[in-house]
Amino acid sequence: MHISFNKNEVLKGIDLSVEKGEVVSFIGPSGTGKTTLLKCINYLEKPHEGEIQLGDLHLNYENIKKQDILKLRRKTAMVFQMFNIFKHKTVIQNVMDAQIAVQKKSKEEAYENSYKQLEKVGLKEKINEYPSRLSGGQLQRVGIARGLALEPELILFDEPTSALDPELVEEVLRVIEDVAKSGMTTLLVTHEMDFAKRISDKVVFMENGYIVEVGPPEQIFENSENERTRQFLKKIYANQG
Ligand SMILES: Nc1ncnc2c1ncn2[C@@H]1O[C@H](COP(=O)(O)OP(=O)(O)O)[C@@H](O)[C@H]1O
Ligand SMILES: [Mg+2]
Repeated sequence: MHISFNKNEVLKGIDLSVEKGEVVSFIGPSGTGKTTLLKCINYLEKPHEGEIQLGDLHLNYENIKKQDILKLRRKTAMVFQMFNIFKHKTVIQNVMDAQIAVQKKSKEEAYENSYKQLEKVGLKEKINEYPSRLSGGQLQRVGIARGLALEPELILFDEPTSALDPELVEEVLRVIEDVAKSGMTTLLVTHEMDFAKRISDKVVFMENGYIVEVGPPEQIFENSENERTRQFLKKIYANQG
C-alpha cells in the first residue's frame, strides 16, 4: 500500500496480513504514518496503489468503485483520538445515527442495539445525557459503543486514550480489552506500551512510512534484534521515567 500527500510519500509500501480475530497493535514515532494506514483501510485516505482483502472482499485501490468503498466501510469501524461525538445529540442518538443513516436500520432496532452496546461499555445510565455532561473517558466509551453498534468485521482504534487525562485512561483501556477479547479483529495505534504488550497477538513497529518489524509482543518488547525498534522503545521508557 502506498500513499502520498503532495508528492510526499507517507506510506512507502506497507504489506501486512491480519488473521480474523487477531489483535494487532501499531507503535512508532509520530508522523510515521500510523493514522494514515488506519484511514487507508476504510478509505478515509486514498492510497494511489495497493490492494486490500477483508474477508471475502478483495479490492484494488487503483480502480476502486463507489460501491466497493461502501462495502469496505460497512466492514470497518474507526474510533478516533478526539471521539468525534456530536454535541447537540444525546449519547444514544450519537450511537444510533449511523445505523439509521448508513445501515438503514429502523429506529427501534437502532435504539435496541445502541442500548445493548452502551450497556456493554458501562454507560446505560447515561444514554439520554448530552456529551457536555460526560467525561473524556465516557465520551470515548460512547465512541467505542458507536463503532461496535455498526457490527464491523474489523475495528480500528487510533490512539483512543491519548487525549484523555491520565486517570481516565484505565476505564477506556478496559473496554478496549473487552472488545479485543470478544474475538473482534482489532487494530490499535497506541502509546500505551504495557497495554499493547498485554493484549496484542502481534505488534507492528512503524517508522517513516515503513513497517520496520512485526512480531509477537515478547519479540518486539523484549527480544527485538532490530536496532531501530530497540532505540524507539528505549526512548519511550526513558520518557515514562
Ligand atoms: N491529510 C494530510 N495532508 C497532508 N499531509 C498529511 C495528511 N495526513 C497526514 N499527513 C502527513 O503524513 C505523515 C504521517 O502522518 P500520520 O499518519 O498522522 O502519522 P502518525 O499517525 O504516525 O503520527 C505526517 O508527515 C503528516 O504530516
Ligand atoms: Mg496518528
